[in-house]
Amino acid sequence: MELREIVDKIKRLSPLSASATQLIELMQSSGSSFEQITHIVELDAALTANVLKVVNSPAFGLGHKVTSVSRAVSFLGEKMIAGIAIASCAPEVYGEELAGYAAERGELWEHSLLTAIASREIAAYCTEPLRAEDAFTAGILHDIGKSVLSQFVAGKTHELMEAVESKAAQDFMEAERLALETDHSEAGMVLGKHWRLPANLLAAIRYHHTPHKAPEEYRPLVYCVHLGDALAQMHGVGTGAATLQCGLEPTVCDYFPISEDEFQAIFLDASIEFEKSRTAFLG
Ligand SMILES: [Fe+2]
Ligand SMILES: [Fe+2]
Repeated sequence: MELREIVDKIKRLSPLSASATQLIELMQSSGSSFEQITHIVELDAALTANVLKVVNSPAFGLGHKVTSVSRAVSFLGEKMIAGIAIASCAPEVYGEELAGYAAERGELWEHSLLTAIASREIAAYCTEPLRAEDAFTAGILHDIGKSVLSQFVAGKTHELMEAVESKAAQDFMEAERLALETDHSEAGMVLGKHWRLPANLLAAIRYHHTPHKAPEEYRPLVYCVHLGDALAQMHGVGTGAATLQCGLEPTVCDYFPISEDEFQAIFLDASIEFEKSRTAFLG
């Protein structure tokens, strides 16, 4: 019964805006041009307003007001523009508090943003070709299922935490499954299909906690987000009760043979970048 309610809820969520869909498609193709991105933003008044708000926030300290979309795009970079587009057309996903996860309003967005930034940095270390653009977008999207499940988990948070603590469930995701017959990775994939996301991003959402189960062709991307997610949680930027309740798969080293020193450097770079972007979004 609950499962049908969950799917019904997803179907009632608004689709991604045309501009967000176009930007995601553009990120997927290797020949995306600066002009094309600028053009998509300019045609969407709400997105233009959001992009200008972010670029003019005190966090970037530009010292002068940016009023042209093309300057904003060149300053923020195309990956960030796609992130802003996804977040600004899905306020019911990123803007709400996640009551079921004891996570406050904005926490999912912050967690997604740091995961995206970390995944983008990590992508460069992959043993196989992996595009930073895909890693960033997948990081933004990986936990969208939590916003769907939150209301169904609400009231059961203690039960779920207890299942993890007593080892009845090995992690928070298995606890979700015990309580709801589904988990946030599966619910996220259903929402991702509703949003008509491409297959590689759907795989990143579906398998970000179980990367070894992903179709082989998408594993570099899925493992990348798996590691980016872990880095965000180590930084203390998780989603409430579920933070640090999901482990890291040892096979991640097959795709990302990252040394301790390199990981420290990634951690530091990602933290600095995140602090800047985070205040920009809040301001
Ligand atoms: Fe997750
Ligand atoms: Fe996550």
